[in-house]
Amino acid sequence: MSQTLILAVSPMGEPESSIARAAALLREGKLVAFPTETVYGLGADATNERAVAAIFAAKERPASDPLIVHIADLEQLPTVVAETPPLALELARRFWPGPLTLVLPRAEAIPLNVTAGGETVGVRMPASVVAQKLLRAAGVPVAAPSANRFMRTSPTTAAHVLADLDGRIDCVLDGGPCAVGVESTVLDLTATPPRILRPGAVTLEALREVAPRIDGPATTGAEAIARAPGQMERHYAPRTPLVVFAGHGKRALAAIRVEAQAALAQEKRVGALLPDIEINALDGLDVRVESLGADLAAVSRNLYAALRALDSAGLDLLITHTYDDEGLGLALNDRLRRAAGGSLRPVE
Ligand code: TXA
Ligand code: MG
Repeated sequence: MSQTLILAVSPMGEPESSIARAAALLREGKLVAFPTETVYGLGADATNERAVAAIFAAKERPASDPLIVHIADLEQLPTVVAETPPLALELARRFWPGPLTLVLPRAEAIPLNVTAGGETVGVRMPASVVAQKLLRAAGVPVAAPSANRFMRTSPTTAAHVLADLDGRIDCVLDGGPCAVGVESTVLDLTATPPRILRPGAVTLEALREVAPRIDGPATTGAEAIARAPGQMERHYAPRTPLVVFAGHGKRALAAIRVEAQAALAQEKRVGALLPDIEINALDGLDVRVESLGADLAAVSRNLYAALRALDSAGLDLLITHTYDDEGLGLALNDRLRRAAGGSLRPVE
């Protein structure tokens, strides 16, 4: 394939012709990148083994990393999963459509290359209107990993998708920037007690309101890999070295300033990612600062775009810090740690 078709669509799902064309391509076994509320996905008909194989080829993703299957409505669920325990239905009613992926026993119709050879499958019903219209029009469950090259930062705009995959996929449906900005929470319901494999926008606190015994996510890369395939320590990573200080507030900002000064003294070009309220922390230093927004929801929405922007700015070092380990902070800290290659820098 040489050219990627770019189809514009508004967040309200107009024009319908873009949706219809993209859906037809999916039914033909083609690869279509599309916006969800979390990040852009690279979709293929989840029941078509060859189409699914093409996803792995386009992303250069190892076959050992399973894909999430996206459905339009609960009626499609039995095509994807062999069993729906009562807790799955309860969580689905509460959090779908939305950024929650449930890991359940795989149904026959889902080929083994979707699940990396395993007998479980991750499934979610996305909330984005464009994704919903596409899934409904396609009429098949759609396997879709994030639409980036393997190990790279997930895409939150169509331009990000094209930067990684132009010419390698058939189509991208451009529905503008994603509202949430970090990937879905992955919850394994085949484990007892259920456990979070990847923290995301549906928070541990919210899940525990429905199921108090849910296990929290792994807090080290090694522990995460042991639980879930594909949860590499180096993931979501920019090419530019990234230092993430553990913690926030005055001491973390002071540590960031010292780190920036030391790098500048070595003639390095430095970038930093900071919430709006902190962007003056590096005043007087020749540092390119990307502001991440006013609150954790904004930080989550802006983080990947800011990482990509700084990564293509010809810098030698990027610096940022973590957040409190609660609410969305858990997902942000997980992505930041992986983007930094698996470890955080302590604040002295
Ligand atoms: O928000 C999202 O989840 C986005 C959008 C496009 O829906 N998708 C996404 O997919 O982030 P991906 O492929 O980048 O990440 C999927 C991860 C896998 O790497 C794996 O860790 C976990 O979900 N996963 C999927 N199926 C699984 C399974 N059967 N068992 C355990 N983990 C699974
Ligand atoms: Mg991914």
